[in-house]
Amino acid sequence: MDKYVLLNPGPVNVSERVRQALLKADMCHREEEYFQVQDQIRRKLLTAFSLDPEYYTTSLISGSGTSALEMTVASTLSEGKKILVINNGVYGDRIAKIADIYHFGKVEIVSDWGKLPDLNAVEQALKDNPDVEVVALVHHETTTGLINPVNAVGSLAKRYGKIFLVDSISGLGGEDFDFKESQADFVICTANKCIQGFPGMAFTIFKKKELSRLSRIPSRSLYLNLYSWHQSQEKHGTPFTPAVQIAYAFEEALDELIEETVEKRIQRYHNVSKLLRAKFQDLGLSLYLSGVPLSNTITALHLPEGKSYESLHKRFKEKGFIIYAGQGNLQTSVFRIANMGEITESDLVRLNKVLEEVFKS
Ligand SMILES: Cc1ncc(COP(=O)(O)O)c(C=O)c1O
Repeated sequence: MDKYVLLNPGPVNVSERVRQALLKADMCHREEEYFQVQDQIRRKLLTAFSLDPEYYTTSLISGSGTSALEMTVASTLSEGKKILVINNGVYGDRIAKIADIYHFGKVEIVSDWGKLPDLNAVEQALKDNPDVEVVALVHHETTTGLINPVNAVGSLAKRYGKIFLVDSISGLGGEDFDFKESQADFVICTANKCIQGFPGMAFTIFKKKELSRLSRIPSRSLYLNLYSWHQSQEKHGTPFTPAVQIAYAFEEALDELIEETVEKRIQRYHNVSKLLRAKFQDLGLSLYLSGVPLSNTITALHLPEGKSYESLHKRFKEKGFIIYAGQGNLQTSVFRIANMGEITESDLVRLNKVLEEVFKS
């Protein structure tokens, strides 16, 4: 297969160095060699995000980002308590759906896609529902490329004594995220977006002080149990067969991230998105979002009159680029161009030319 430049928000193009890491020796997941890789990934995650291992810990899970999300949502709510879900896109909606599947009591603050949540409504819901225990928010709503007000929601959650859970699956590594200021207790992410690894492993970084509460919550799933993955990994074990080769590449991707530094990666993504957005403007394309904070890694654009997403996708693919459709009710009116991952200068030069060819014609 030819090389495609992936302009979808993950899985992303990875470096040759990360790809080569897949080829390390086959290994049994119950051997010391694998546990060393697992330990290193958990340690390097904290190092990359400058987190003190005295206060923060991680659980790795083999699965997509949703596996870590569902594992965390399913494992953090005490019996009889409610979760407050802030929903302004497909991924906020996904948290709400997970809560429903587990028959959790749920309060939902829904806003239009592309709009920031109403913080007054969030506060009112917290006042009205003292049995809410967990507040859940998506950091970067990948549906539209909107950055939600993590710090403001975190401070509201804490003012009312709640646990704060953040889906930063498309955020960590690509967007500013201050663990301290956000006061987040649980942050969920995946290897294959801004971390620049392969799909197949995801993780939750969380506060150690949560462990004793987690231990008292009855297990609601055999596989998707944050506490049991953690307990096993702490004891140099794994409850189930992990994605061994994906873990090799994940560790390599973390080495790259630590060398580049999170700040510089964020800056790199920011610079590319700025260049791309200037180009989109030149070409008369209009952004779907306005008046809200934009992410560094995805731009949602209105489909130009007379162009279908399918025809655009086909033309870009013929030139070696994969663009991404709008989701849900934006499917026929919006398309998305992401700039996560290993995108080189020469990819960008070629992309500029293709953008001109497609949108000037
Ligand atoms: C914010 C957010 N949450 C959850 C997911 C789901 O991740 P996955 O498709 O890896 O299960 C995504 C995927 O794009 C996402 O962007």
